[in-house]
Amino acid sequence: MPDALTLPRPDDWHLHLRDGAALAAVLPHTARQFARAVVMPNLSPPVVRLADARAYQARIEAALPPGAAFQPLMTLYLTEATPPEALIEAAESGAVVGVKLYPAGATTNSDSGVREVSAVLPQLEVMAAAGLPLLVHGEVTDPAVDIFDREAVFLERTLGPLLERLPTLRVVLEHITTAAAVRFVDAAGPQLGATITAHHLLATRNDMLVGAIRPHYFCLPVLKRARDREALLEAAARGPSRYFLGTDSAPHAVDKKECPAGCAGSFTAHAALELYAEAFDEVGALDRLADFASRNGPRWYGLPENDGEVTLLREEWAPPAAYPFGAGALRPWRHDKPLRWRFVG
Ligand code: NCD
Ligand code: ZN
Repeated sequence: MPDALTLPRPDDWHLHLRDGAALAAVLPHTARQFARAVVMPNLSPPVVRLADARAYQARIEAALPPGAAFQPLMTLYLTEATPPEALIEAAESGAVVGVKLYPAGATTNSDSGVREVSAVLPQLEVMAAAGLPLLVHGEVTDPAVDIFDREAVFLERTLGPLLERLPTLRVVLEHITTAAAVRFVDAAGPQLGATITAHHLLATRNDMLVGAIRPHYFCLPVLKRARDREALLEAAARGPSRYFLGTDSAPHAVDKKECPAGCAGSFTAHAALELYAEAFDEVGALDRLADFASRNGPRWYGLPENDGEVTLLREEWAPPAAYPFGAGALRPWRHDKPLRWRFVG
């Protein structure tokens, strides 16, 4: 069993950085490990226009620790009112790598999202023509659909027909959680990529609900069954593929998680690579983490791979029970169990 793991400097293809004091608190964790991250636009109000994305990018760059070599890759939040011309302008600017589709009501700050995909077809058509990728939160919000089935139903009802209708639209199915999603991505062509979080590779709904309710395991899409986790591990550890690393690290202050109506989101940026290494180690695939973390994403997005390398050691450590988070505190995921790998830079 190797005790050290070196890989090309990786990227995080799905990340929540928030804004203001929260941004300042979480950004150093990601900038330490990753060269680039695709920054989600679900601020309040959301990042809708190119000018919003440029301003948010400037705030992120201003919040970077001195000397940090980190590039935020910006996204726009798709609304039914987004003018198609604004997306052409965004694509031509080169300042955004994708446009995020949140089904309205699916998750944190998704109220301005899309109620019906048919209502944004003109926008999706110009994105297909401009080669601007659509990043999808793949869950239906139909109250009649059980929360554990919302991803599978979205693939069948919404994403399948959309990919057929717009075969040149490039799409990333974000944070996949089910064996059904792996089958769907496998069956699709090169137009479709998918991100997988560390927490969905390491945990199931049992971790969240057996014996006690553990709110830091509550994220969207929710953790699924053991057989889903196995399918995700198999897909992530395949080597060169259309699956790539996206932490979906989603910080919420501890009082917004440990309360009667807690927010969805797990904060994993403090130990992102360590968590992925643990998952790949479990299936004897440490040698394939470099594809998943450092090569598959740039290849799908048509961006260069990063220079430089990072190293992890097989060494137990425990994160603190909480990190500072503006005026509040942030409970890191896996504060309850030691981590098995340590990032050394
Ligand atoms: C994310 C957040 O908090 O912004 N929460 C989550 O559970 N993943 C939103 C999202 O990506 O769904
Ligand atoms: Zn997310």
